[in-house]
Amino acid sequence: MRAIKALIGLVSSLALTGAQIVTAAAPPPPGAENGMVVSAHRLATDAGVAVLKQGGNAVDAAIAVAYVLAVTFPEAGNIGGGGFMTIRLANGRSTFIDFRETAPAAATAMMYQDKAGNVVPLLSTRGHLSVGVPGTVAGLELARTKYGTRPRAPLMATAIALASKGFVLDQGDADFLAEGATDFAQDPASAAVFLNRGKPWRAGQRWVQADLGRTLQAVSARGNDGFYKGPVAASLAAASQAGGGIITAADLAGYKAVERKPIECDYRSFHIISAPPPSSGGVVLCETLNVLEGYPLAALGFHSAQGVHFTTEALRRSYRDRNLNLGDPDFVKFDTSRFTSKAYAAELRAGISADKATPSASLTGPGAAHEGKSTTHFSVVDKAGNAVSLTYTLNDWFGARVTAGGTGVLLNDEMDDFSAKPGFPNMYGLVEGTNNAIAPGKRPLSSMAPTIVTHDGALSMVIGTPGGSHIPTGVLQVMVNVIDHGMTLTEAVNAPRIHAQWLPDVIYYEKDALSADTMAVLMAKGHRLEQMDYWNQVAAILVGGPSLAMKPNAATGNRWRYFGAIDPRLPVGSVGGY
Ligand code: DON
Repeated sequence: MRAIKALIGLVSSLALTGAQIVTAAAPPPPGAENGMVVSAHRLATDAGVAVLKQGGNAVDAAIAVAYVLAVTFPEAGNIGGGGFMTIRLANGRSTFIDFRETAPAAATAMMYQDKAGNVVPLLSTRGHLSVGVPGTVAGLELARTKYGTRPRAPLMATAIALASKGFVLDQGDADFLAEGATDFAQDPASAAVFLNRGKPWRAGQRWVQADLGRTLQAVSARGNDGFYKGPVAASLAAASQAGGGIITAADLAGYKAVERKPIECDYRSFHIISAPPPSSGGVVLCETLNVLEGYPLAALGFHSAQGVHFTTEALRRSYRDRNLNLGDPDFVKFDTSRFTSKAYAAELRAGISADKATPSASLTGPGAAHEGKSTTHFSVVDKAGNAVSLTYTLNDWFGARVTAGGTGVLLNDEMDDFSAKPGFPNMYGLVEGTNNAIAPGKRPLSSMAPTIVTHDGALSMVIGTPGGSHIPTGVLQVMVNVIDHGMTLTEAVNAPRIHAQWLPDVIYYEKDALSADTMAVLMAKGHRLEQMDYWNQVAAILVGGPSLAMKPNAATGNRWRYFGAIDPRLPVGSVGGY
């Protein structure tokens, strides 16, 4: 994991009489009156705000942001990958666009195993054989044509200009790009773009991606056909074949984004709208929140031993259900409403002891899936109150670390999100169920959780994050921090996190997340503890005030409605609004 030790704010060691200091101080969230974008790259945020200012809606802005991120944040922004978009319109209607990658037609359940049945290291994470059929262009086009208000070309113009004319890299951009340098050097098509004559790009240099500019221009001119058919598709298929991959022109021509019904649930007085399968994100989030609703988290306090214990026990059960049951709903049958019902949560709570950790092994079934570490999330709201929560990914940072020559398109390694060998430990020693076995045309199970929260029928929060299997836990903790612990949005996002996911049977914690005596209490209950690096970059918007209780000071003329926070765990990203 990329270990970026970002500033989380100063932990106050001052004893303030009368105040309970539970988390680090954080600056107040920046506010805006009419619209807001929070994304992983400053130029993408700016492009989205510009669309909003020109009267485009949140979906229009999201499309502009997504295409700019594909240029300026190639770690995860993409047109060579896929993702999910949760939309809530100001009229209260919500929907979900699934543009997850699919397995090519020639994919087989055992394609990443050798003759002895062992999973071959790196086959599903590096190079052309690890690539799923990309969905981003189709997903953005489906969202735009159904819910946008603007033609395609103006929404793509900034991205095209940034690729064709380039942009000046800042230190964060350059440091991040350099992370892929060793792999880029192995792939001439990647080296041609992501290295500068064989060397990492440096801060202050102008980075031009001429091929990507032409590809985006083809999409701008011809929509889906500019990517999935014609010269770009031919180059993608040729690159796959030349690189030992299996994606054909027919796979590309056959790709379809799908509109689905989001997963919805209630937590205390809030309503949650999140990602349905083929993502597990919404199910894990709702199942966990339903269980936690039965515990007085606010009274227990932020990261008290008892609060962490109950959270871990809830997560243990929802990740177990995720891994045993979920998959692509077009291929496997399961009933998500069972997992997201209050009755089921009550059943689960009945099995949770307040004093003793439940050994994960006693909750039978196969275990946790490995997931990559590179994705990006952005949140958008417009003047009317339409909201978009979008998470998309190449899976690992820079995906498969191969580029389709002549297109500038960096490709995903999303095939690794399938279970390479159901029922057996994969190369990371983890195990997953047959529901997520590889099959032609199937979408691999995801954890992405682009989420929208409402309160009394009004928009309250837009939130999401990268982080693989740490996505639902990242979103969950920020929500609990805001709803139960009364934090401002920046406090909630900056606060240290824990993570638990059934297997491995461990509570992971960020540095300073748990005090020594809290850990001692947890160990006495039977928990194992391990420190972890940062996994998330939450991008969130809160409507109405810096926290649920605080309101902008109208007496001073403050008319801000939207408050944003970008996680400081990565040194990139920005909040923008007008
Ligand atoms: O779909 C998934 O769940 C993963 N491919 C996402 C990977 C990810 O978020 C890594 N981010 N840091």
